[in-house]
Amino acid sequence: MESMLTEIDHVAIAVSDLEAAIAWYESTFAATVVHREVVESDGVAEALIQVADSYVQLLTPTRDDSPVAKFLAKRGEGLHHVGYRVRDCAAALEAVRAAGGRVIDAAPRPGSRGTTVAFVHPSASFGTLVELVEDGSGH
Ligand code: CO
Repeated sequence: MESMLTEIDHVAIAVSDLEAAIAWYESTFAATVVHREVVESDGVAEALIQVADSYVQLLTPTRDDSPVAKFLAKRGEGLHHVGYRVRDCAAALEAVRAAGGRVIDAAPRPGSRGTTVAFVHPSASFGTLVELVEDGSGH
């Protein structure tokens, strides 16, 4: 059977100062921000830095009660989650459930840049928060 995971979509890093983090990637590696977005429902602002066909997703909270704000308060800056690109987010989510794993999103929902996403609880994925990302643009 073909793997449901087709690419690392993004590695998400929680930061306190989004502009400082962007400046570091730009000035140190000549990396480029290709997308910026505020996702109000998640209380985050993100900047995507292109790395080949994947991204580094820098995340910062836009309000104190957002999950990323809680993460920063508890754990500090650092790796927040890994996004795996999948062809069918619903099918991948169902596969996690079928294997007895706990999910955060009961059903796929809209993510940033027009994607469809669902989060898997870290308890199901060996301690790492996993996001399943279906990219409607065909990526
Ligand atoms: Co993400």
